[in-house]
Amino acid sequence: THARITVDRDFTIAEVPRRLFGQFVEHMGRCVYTGIYEPGHPAADARGFRTDVLELVRELGPTVVRYPGGNFVSGYRWEDGVGPVADRPVRMDGAWHTIETNAFGLHEFMDWSREAEVEVMEAINLGTRGVEEARALVEYANHPGGTYWSDLRRRNGAEDPFGIKLWCLGNELDGPWQIGHKTAHEYGRLAQETAKAMKLVDPEIELVAVGSSNRQMPTFGTWEHTVLTHAYEEVDYISMHAYYREQDGDAASFLAEGVEMDTFIDGVISTIDAVKAAGKHSKQVNISFDEWNVWDFDRFNDVEEGEVAAAGWREHPRLIEDTYTVTDAVVVGTFLHSLLRHGDRVKIANQAQLVNVIAPIRSEEGGPAWRQTIFWPFARMARMAKGRILRLAISSTKGETARFGDVDEVDAVATWDESSGRLALFVANRSLASEATVDLDLHGLRATAVRSAEVLTVPDDGDRLTANVEHAPDAVGLRPLDGVAIDDGAVRLTLPALSWSAVEFE
Ligand code: AHR
Repeated sequence: THARITVDRDFTIAEVPRRLFGQFVEHMGRCVYTGIYEPGHPAADARGFRTDVLELVRELGPTVVRYPGGNFVSGYRWEDGVGPVADRPVRMDGAWHTIETNAFGLHEFMDWSREAEVEVMEAINLGTRGVEEARALVEYANHPGGTYWSDLRRRNGAEDPFGIKLWCLGNELDGPWQIGHKTAHEYGRLAQETAKAMKLVDPEIELVAVGSSNRQMPTFGTWEHTVLTHAYEEVDYISMHAYYREQDGDAASFLAEGVEMDTFIDGVISTIDAVKAAGKHSKQVNISFDEWNVWDFDRFNDVEEGEVAAAGWREHPRLIEDTYTVTDAVVVGTFLHSLLRHGDRVKIANQAQLVNVIAPIRSEEGGPAWRQTIFWPFARMARMAKGRILRLAISSTKGETARFGDVDEVDAVATWDESSGRLALFVANRSLASEATVDLDLHGLRATAVRSAEVLTVPDDGDRLTANVEHAPDAVGLRPLDGVAIDDGAVRLTLPALSWSAVEFE
């Protein structure tokens, strides 16, 4: 496999939207309870936050975290999660057939987010609730004081407003499984009126309208068109969600799912722009890709199979605790490439979810916390993708796939940070069998030194399905990428088969 990548410092896509490196915490399974929060755990602080998990979160480096759902939010009463914990009601969460104690709520999440050094992206319930509860929550969270809801926040211990800037207008309301599922017209009007009322309380907030739950939804395209036709002027983003998995052992197609993500994003951009043109709007609505990841329904099908309901009503049951492989990590790397390549229009993205539930971080109740394989591409890109996204010209050997035809075996994205003089290249070799040589042709840039070069690939004693598990938490990680050659400013890399690499030049 061979690829030539031309990098020109003047061909740029956009500034790196730092909110692309977002994560998601839902009241689902063990993401909150025994994930980020577990009073009584040896590593818990006085508030019950697991400091071992917090350390891993800071290392992962998300910039923004979406909360509290997910399907959960469509039946959630935010008021249940504020005030003295002893007075909070215990509720039945229908979305995940779970007992919700409400021991963890908005104030706890705000405190946790400060420890984790992340921005909060708050989702409101537009499944069972509406305009009134949404504007009350914005007043509670963001108004300084002197009104009913803001004074309640102060009495509940938060003198200063939370200042939450980013809000989701519900979750996946196009989906028949969603509590309070709506037609596009019903949702479009509700989103418009809710947005208007929320912005009357705080004009500084940014709002995300719900887009399709995935590209296979029968209403994909018409949903976005109808919703935006109603709410274009009131909202700032439309959401995208997508989960991918290997099907029928077809690893080549799975490794090429980034192509599917590119197509999905391009489709939503086209729909936004069609509404913009027809409505003669001058403002630009962009995309919040606020749920994405590998999620293997075939291997972790507790929800699909109804096992959760069959087990009765429980607190924080184990749900979709996918164990990620080397292959999954390479695919996750290419998803981050796709998001970054579209950084002119995709301004926010959240990998779903942060801990335990299809997550880069795993933790056990009373036990350890560790990094899954997919932790690594996220952590490196969140740390190193700075400055401007470069528009690369890539000519690569193609690999045949059953689902996407011929696909580039080498997939890459790069950023150039003028202030530090650093060029960061993120590159996957999707070939399962061949090493790849990659020649970088640098225009207007000169690599004089390699600052760092790391690769994630199949370990010597493993195979493409090797994973990090409790008793072998470091089986898959990053190791030095040897043999990066610089010759008179030009660069040659040699990448192992099935690998993802991050290389930084200065
Ligand atoms: O992230 C898991 C679930 O997937 C979310 O609750 C929902 O929004 C999506 O269907």
